[in-house]
Amino acid sequence: MLSTHEIRKKYLDFFKQKSHAIIASASLLPENDPTTLFTGSGMQPMVPFLLGEKHPRGTRIADSQKCFRAQDMDEVGDNRHTTFFEMLGNWSLGDYFKQEQIPWMFEFITEELTLDPKNLYITCFAGHDEFGIPRDEESAKMWQGLFAQKGIEASIIDDAQANGMQGAKIFYYPASKNWWSRAGVPEKMPAGEPGGPDTEMFWDFSADLKLHENSEFKDQPCHVNCDCGRFMEIGNNVFMEYFKTESGFEKLSQQNVDFGGGLERMSAAVRNDADVFTIDLFDSARGVIEKLSGKKYGEHSEETYAFRVTLDHLRAATFLIADGASPSNKDQGYFTRRFIRRAVRFASKLGINENFCAEITRGYIETYAHQYPDLETKKDHIFSELHTEEDKFRVTLEQGIKEFEKILAGFARAFEKTGQKFTEISAKQAFKLYDTYGFPLEMTEDLAKEHGLTVDKAGFEEAFKKHQEISRQGSEQKFKGGLADTSEMSVKYHTATHLLHASVLKVLGSHATQKGSNITPERLRFDFAHPEKMTDVQKKEVEDLVNGAIARDYSVTFELLPYEEAKKRNAIGLFEDNYGDQVKVYTVGDPLGVPVADPSADTFSRELCGGPHVEHTGVLGKFKIVKEESSSAGIRRIKAVLE
Ligand code: SER
Repeated sequence: MLSTHEIRKKYLDFFKQKSHAIIASASLLPENDPTTLFTGSGMQPMVPFLLGEKHPRGTRIADSQKCFRAQDMDEVGDNRHTTFFEMLGNWSLGDYFKQEQIPWMFEFITEELTLDPKNLYITCFAGHDEFGIPRDEESAKMWQGLFAQKGIEASIIDDAQANGMQGAKIFYYPASKNWWSRAGVPEKMPAGEPGGPDTEMFWDFSADLKLHENSEFKDQPCHVNCDCGRFMEIGNNVFMEYFKTESGFEKLSQQNVDFGGGLERMSAAVRNDADVFTIDLFDSARGVIEKLSGKKYGEHSEETYAFRVTLDHLRAATFLIADGASPSNKDQGYFTRRFIRRAVRFASKLGINENFCAEITRGYIETYAHQYPDLETKKDHIFSELHTEEDKFRVTLEQGIKEFEKILAGFARAFEKTGQKFTEISAKQAFKLYDTYGFPLEMTEDLAKEHGLTVDKAGFEEAFKKHQEISRQGSEQKFKGGLADTSEMSVKYHTATHLLHASVLKVLGSHATQKGSNITPERLRFDFAHPEKMTDVQKKEVEDLVNGAIARDYSVTFELLPYEEAKKRNAIGLFEDNYGDQVKVYTVGDPLGVPVADPSADTFSRELCGGPHVEHTGVLGKFKIVKEESSSAGIRRIKAVLE
């Protein structure tokens, strides 16, 4: 049977043969994209190119992109949801369209993965009258023809949601299911946002498993988009040819294809096991949990749930830390913290009460190091972050138990004074335990039960919902205008970031490499590795170097270079590209010179980067550091403006 690594390789090789450039996964923390905290889909880093910017690697691109969807946290525990996953992607940037994509996908699934088309089902876009976007009959007919070539008669229907499958293979669904944009359905898209109809592929794990009959949906008809778990979406072909305007939709200047397929889900389909957590990528980590807990995965449903949450959350935390989101109380690091804590709590349900996170992570690093070598090089850092966070949380956990005991003492005092017997933990108390001490409701309930008490669950859930709405509003605000920002000011800040990076390395030493960057039209933020606070003298030196480079009015140019050549020519940047032979390199100053971060040199900096940048540094204005602070252990953060 194909391993998950083999599936990834097969997919990339398949598209390489079809003249696609294979690119490395972008970071989970989007660079230069202030609109979102995490890379949540393969297409996210591709947005500028879907909108028409030229991609340095051409018009056919494929990759396997690391993705993290924090918003799916509560879904984790079922057979198929994970917050971290890899998305296999292929893109046509105004090159091929439906006529190529659909047959290729069918070929990949049936010939390369050798999945039986009898168990494959398809959904297509039913159309959107109000916006005048037609039903995608072309795709439906194309799939029908492909099934026919395999001797399968595939009928097409459009009422599966109401009336079930009716023996059909291809189903029309409305925009709520078969339309893709980063903002969701057409109504929700901001002006300027690209989107399009999609056609999705589902794998049937078989009715014999009785997943539907045993689910909460048993009284409704089962269909491919039913949440019972019998059908699993394994890929989504988006035909991205529209963008939203103030008044409706218009065609983009180019017809794009954006395919995204869950690697782990494809692997589950190949195994024909509806449980994604049984695939090989989890073997090692699952084994560690089994060993430490003495419990066997899959034996009891409640334990299985705890296994899955622990497996998912620690994998996500491993990759988040590797990409620079160390546990903290802010921004992305907050999610890392929350996920580690949740994993610790769920593992405690399995009886694991000693530090264990680093050991699970060791399993993941071994499993993934071949694909993501940076995990191996950063492993000491990852272990130490996990260890520290776990230690800290175990202390909080203790404090939470103390808080709980205080509640009990309060009940006892009230009883002594008034004779009134309290038997219920109030919503407010339960919510405080959740919010301040990280106790989930179930944990409070468990503790309450041990003391013959109940919990105001409905009240807690109401408070919880309110809290979620507030955080959702927060993340929607982050989404703002939708587009990755390429305004003139952001482009200036982007170039200033290159000058800053080179200057920081010059002043502090070669260890001070970039760990993150975030740019808005108002400021730049730059994270870099450095163990201590910068002195005023160092800050001034960095400012002077950057301003010197601006005054010198260097030209900024890019070249596509073979990876090895870029390395030889001292380009700074992340050298993690597994596949890419050509890289895009920006030089500030003479493109042929040796970079020295000194305004008296002809070449100031050379860095691996996708762009865009200004043409001359002279336009940047005056560079000023407004803050230098700690971002997380061993990482400093500079905020700077151009005046
Ligand atoms: N953008 C689509 C998705 O995330 C396909 O890549 O599903």
